[in-house]
Amino acid sequence: MKQSKSEFWSGEEYDAQYGKAYSNEISFLHDLLATYQASSLLDVCCGTGLVTIPLSNNLSRAVGIDFSSPMVEFAIEKSAAVDNISFCEMDAVDFNLGTQFDVVSMTGNAFQAFISNADFLSMLNRVKNHMGDNGVFVFDARLPCPENLEVTSGYQYWSSYISPTGEKVNVYGWDSAHPQSNDTMVHHVRRDYENGDQYHSKIELKYRSIDEIVSCLESVGLQLVRCYADWKKTPFTKASKRIVGVVSAL
Ligand SMILES: C[S@@+](CC[C@H](N)C(=O)[O-])C[C@H]1O[C@@H](n2cnc3c(N)ncnc32)[C@H](O)[C@@H]1O
Repeated sequence: MKQSKSEFWSGEEYDAQYGKAYSNEISFLHDLLATYQASSLLDVCCGTGLVTIPLSNNLSRAVGIDFSSPMVEFAIEKSAAVDNISFCEMDAVDFNLGTQFDVVSMTGNAFQAFISNADFLSMLNRVKNHMGDNGVFVFDARLPCPENLEVTSGYQYWSSYISPTGEKVNVYGWDSAHPQSNDTMVHHVRRDYENGDQYHSKIELKYRSIDEIVSCLESVGLQLVRCYADWKKTPFTKASKRIVGVVSAL
């Protein structure tokens, strides 16, 4: 069971909506790369490279992989003038680049895109195989608290942005429980464009508890070494609704 690609149908549209939303992630990873004196970064589920491209400045090599071709194509277009970066269309569940990296990142809650445990474990195994000696993996995810698993009875207003063609877009979301998978939400999204057009998409997200995450990490030889409540390094507590985790080999 794969996450639908319908929400990631256009790199240009993704950047118009989220292009300025990743400064905390970039700053966190920038500090981490410096702390580990890292020279290489693998960004798994990189999307349009919003995080990969700015981080590539101080590295000898940055690679992004993502299974959505419009996202990867736009990442390649945006980074055409950058020598030390490459983007590949690959599924995080079964990719093999034949090389290892100092830091592996996964931002934008893509950690929740792996619905079945088989896919989740396979992705973690692939990540582990691409971590060099003393390498670290950093991810973020929302946790299965009542607030995050709340369903809505219909579409509700979420946000607005200006599309790549300059039109105002109002975004509405409708949250439902996945019919076949526990602790999985289906977020239906509707974008209403000023000219009357509509675009419908959906995104399935699995909400795993810390205990489940730790146990899956350990089963593939990884361990959670640090966690925060967000990318601003707010201390993690039992009440935290999301996690930013730093992972190393066991
Ligand atoms: C919310 S976006 C985050 C993109 C990017 N990490 C960022 O922070 O802007 C999630 C991304 O995960 C990708 N994705 C989901 N499942 C994937 C899989 N199995 N393999 C590779 N990419 C995947 C989607 O195509 C999408 O680009």
